[in-house]
Amino acid sequence: MSENAAHQHDTQHHPHDGGAGLSGGTLAGGAAIGGPADAAATWDERYRSKPQMWSGKPNPQLVREAGGLRPGKALDLGCGEGADAIWLAQQGWTVTAVDVSAVALDRARSHEKAALARESVHAADGAIASRITWQQADLEQWQPGASFDLVTAQFLHSQELAWQGPLRTAASAVKPGGTLLVVGHHPDRLPPWGGAGHHHRGMFYTGDELVQELGLAGPGWQLEVQTSRERPVTGPEGQQATIADVVVRATRLP
Ligand SMILES: C[S@@+](CC[C@H](N)C(=O)[O-])C[C@H]1O[C@@H](n2cnc3c(N)ncnc32)[C@H](O)[C@@H]1O
Repeated sequence: MSENAAHQHDTQHHPHDGGAGLSGGTLAGGAAIGGPADAAATWDERYRSKPQMWSGKPNPQLVREAGGLRPGKALDLGCGEGADAIWLAQQGWTVTAVDVSAVALDRARSHEKAALARESVHAADGAIASRITWQQADLEQWQPGASFDLVTAQFLHSQELAWQGPLRTAASAVKPGGTLLVVGHHPDRLPPWGGAGHHHRGMFYTGDELVQELGLAGPGWQLEVQTSRERPVTGPEGQQATIADVVVRATRLP
C-alpha cells in the first residue's frame, strides 16, 4: 500500500507526517525520534484526518521484488490501510499484517472484505476465506511469535518511531531461506511537499545505513538488492517530482 503520491506516482498525494511533537532519544543525524509518545493515538488521528491516506495500490517495489517469490508466510510491518497485505494474499501468501493504528486496520479489513467479495464472485466454489491476520501492535515493543518466508516493511517512517529496533525485529523474523524486503524514502530524495516531518533525517535511512544496522552484508545473509530507484510522483496540487526509494532485499542463509 502506498502513500497516495509519495509512495505511488499515479494518484493524489497525502503526506504521512502529521506534525506531532517529537520525544525520545537522539539519533545519528541529529533528529529526535521515538520515545513514549502514544503512537497509536497519534497515527489514529492522522488517519482520521482523511477518509483515505494512501493510494489503495500495492507498493511498486513490493510488487517488483516479491512478485517472483514462491508464496508462503509473510509479515507486513506498518501495513497501514492494507493494500500490500491484500496484494500478497492475492498472490497466495498467508499474511500477518501489523500496524499501530486501529483506524488504519479497520480500513484495511474493509478493503480486504471488498476484495474477497470481488474474488468470490469469480470463484467456482463460493466465498474465498481471508488469508490475512490483522494485528494492532506498537512495533517499538512488539515481537513476532513466529518466523516468516517473507518479511516486508514499506515506508515504515514515523516521527514517533526509531526505525532501527523494528527493522532489526523484521530481520530476526525471517526464516532460513526466507526474504527480508525493506523499502523507504531516500533521505536525500524526499517529496518536496512532505511537510515538517520530512525534515527529521532520523526517520529515514540510506541503503548503507540499513545494511550496516541489520548486518545484512555479514554472515548469515545474502544481500540480493541494495539500491535506490527513482520514481515520478504527483503532489497534492498536481505538482510533479522525482523521488527515490531505498530498496534492500536479502535472503537469510539456511
Ligand atoms: C508512512 S506509513 C506507511 C504505510 C504503508 N506501509 C505504506 O507503504 O503505505 C507508516 C505506517 O506505520 C505505522 N506505524 C507508525 N508507528 C508505528 C508503530 N510504533 N508500530 C506499528 N506501526 C506503526 C503507521 O500507523 C503507518 O500506517
